[in-house]
Amino acid sequence: MSSVMNEKKAFRKTHLTWTLIFTLSIVFVVAVVAGAVFMVEKNRITRQFDGDLVRTAEFIEKRLSAPGMMGMLRMMKGMPPLFVPRGEAFQLLLSSGEVFLEVGEQLDTPEMPVKEGFSTEGNYRVFTKKIDLGDTTIFLRVGKDISDLMERSRRLLSMYLLLIVFTAGGAWIFGYFISKLALLPVKNAYDSLKRFSMDASHELKTPLSVLKTSLDVLKYQDVPEEVKNKLSIMEKNVEKMRKQVEQLLLLVKSGEMFKDTVKERINLKVFLEELVEAFAPKAEAKNLKLKIECPDDLFVETEKDVLRVVLENLIDNAIKFTEKGEVIVGAVSDGRVTIYVKDTGPGIPKKEQKKIFERFYRISRNTEGSGLGLSIVKELVARLKAKIVLESEEGKGSTFKIIF
Ligand SMILES: Nc1ncnc2c1ncn2[C@@H]1O[C@H](COP(=O)(O)OP(=O)(O)O)[C@@H](O)[C@H]1O
Ligand SMILES: [Mg+2]
Repeated sequence: MSSVMNEKKAFRKTHLTWTLIFTLSIVFVVAVVAGAVFMVEKNRITRQFDGDLVRTAEFIEKRLSAPGMMGMLRMMKGMPPLFVPRGEAFQLLLSSGEVFLEVGEQLDTPEMPVKEGFSTEGNYRVFTKKIDLGDTTIFLRVGKDISDLMERSRRLLSMYLLLIVFTAGGAWIFGYFISKLALLPVKNAYDSLKRFSMDASHELKTPLSVLKTSLDVLKYQDVPEEVKNKLSIMEKNVEKMRKQVEQLLLLVKSGEMFKDTVKERINLKVFLEELVEAFAPKAEAKNLKLKIECPDDLFVETEKDVLRVVLENLIDNAIKFTEKGEVIVGAVSDGRVTIYVKDTGPGIPKKEQKKIFERFYRISRNTEGSGLGLSIVKELVARLKAKIVLESEEGKGSTFKIIF
């Protein structure tokens, strides 16, 4: 299941990544366009508002210029704000800064010198204009409440934010389906490739077994020495091929192969002894010591067949890459059970330690192998919900630990 699960995970991750990219692109475009519209609209409203203020000021200026108007105004000084709609305010200042006449809501008295132009004072937008009345110069200030304007702008902004939230939601849903659709051909191609490798390795297995048996039979016939040598080379290569096909099959089919395995309580000492025994001839052939370090009463609850494949690969590597010294297979427990395979081989450089778990990766091409072993180990260990840790230094051997 583990290999299948990893691919599923990878597909899912790609799917979600594309959905996210799609969503972000759409949101970005909408945010920029809507943001621009928002700014333009806000500017337009502000300009309109300011235009109104200027027109009002000009209107009043015209009236003030009428002969005798100033005198009349002087008489009106201190009168209550007559005929002024709520939210509007007018102020006449002498150039000394003295407030001469005030109508409507009270505006702050500006600091001297009085500046012409627009300003915002509390809830009021104020336009100040200098008026030349021949003998005197006065300042006219026209103010208008902008609470409404701000409220409109706030509403516009919340509409804008709402739009973005809805766009993001919509884009996510849409993107989810679109990217699923886009990934479908890739997934189909992948599935058929996988099915092909499964079938192919399966088909290869049978003829290889037949070849192997035939060679076995031939070996014991009375044939010339030269032929015998050739037969032995053939046998070796058939065995090599059989192993590689086996690993390939394991890689593409481990999920299916182990689908019925169940967890069981394993006595590790017994299990390791049985396992290591099979490697004794190989170790002996290389003059390596093969040892077990394990307490008698250490148990672990896991899928036995899966664990066996994992350890077989690690022990096989340890013996294969070690020229001198020993290979130790052991287990300890400090709350968590750790099984390890330790060798006195060449060690693995730091920069290779991640890569050797990749499919087909081998540090050197000079050794026999497919480079699949450790990638299978990695997947199976994940399936066992355990962790694999490699401790190694160049020239100082390697220790592979499976931590439960
Ligand atoms: N115990 C070890 N000591 C040194 N190198 C190792 C050891 N185990 C694995 N390696 C390195 O990691 C590579 C990948 O291992 P593996 O996936 O089992 O492939 P293979 O055994 O087919 O070469 C090996 O080719 C080897 O270079
Ligand atoms: Mg290997």
